[in-house]
Amino acid sequence: MANRPYIVGNWKMNGTRAMLSEARAIDRGAARHPAVRVAIAPPFTLVHAMAEDATAIAVGGQDCHASPSGAFTGDVSAPLLKDAGAQFVIVGHSERRALHGETDAAVRAKAEAALEAGLEVIVCVGETEAQRDAGQAEAVVAAQLEGSLPRGETAAQGVTVAYEPVWAIGTGRVPSVDDVGAMHRSIRAVLGAIYGEAGAEVAILYGGSVNAANASELLCADEVGGALVGGASLTAESFLTIVAAAGPLGD
Ligand code: PGA
Repeated sequence: MANRPYIVGNWKMNGTRAMLSEARAIDRGAARHPAVRVAIAPPFTLVHAMAEDATAIAVGGQDCHASPSGAFTGDVSAPLLKDAGAQFVIVGHSERRALHGETDAAVRAKAEAALEAGLEVIVCVGETEAQRDAGQAEAVVAAQLEGSLPRGETAAQGVTVAYEPVWAIGTGRVPSVDDVGAMHRSIRAVLGAIYGEAGAEVAILYGGSVNAANASELLCADEVGGALVGGASLTAESFLTIVAAAGPLGD
């Protein structure tokens, strides 16, 4: 793994203020693993409080609007996240794509808005089970990357890609290490085509049912630069085991 491994917790729609103590425990634990970059994306309601507390972890949003401000009831923009203390935002998660009808173009607009606001951005891609069964996984992911990644001179410096097969999210099923490696190599090639030499520096995270038991193996797959973790990021105990598993890869 060329760069510092990056372990990101996606809390999804979970976390009342009582969960801030769990985030503090994660923060303290992360401080013991300086070779690993650790981050949490809590619900919007906790971003500010968590960011105020954090010393070792980065805090981010799970989505943002493509416009900086305006009449968009219920939405949160990238500058508002930045103002609340966020350092990054996740865009294009498969739950947003499937449940909110987000297209590649919409995801790209959000990613560019995030960079414009001074946030780093994690762009999610991943195939469905039917697409994998049809032998289209790499083509589908390549097309998502083409359509969703932000463009611009310095875009590559602010971008992380998360490969999350839709069928592996929250299911307990994970692809084989060989399949993860093959997909990550294919993503690396697309990043090179889009960003040129800078594409080699973009971290590619694996996500989908990463847990304390399988993290070491998945993190060792080819071109895997870290993990995007849902369910197993909700307790300090399981999340810090994953952080610890990434430790030796960053030394
Ligand atoms: P999971 O979720 O780890 O619970 O499968 C991952 C994600 O959706 O980011």
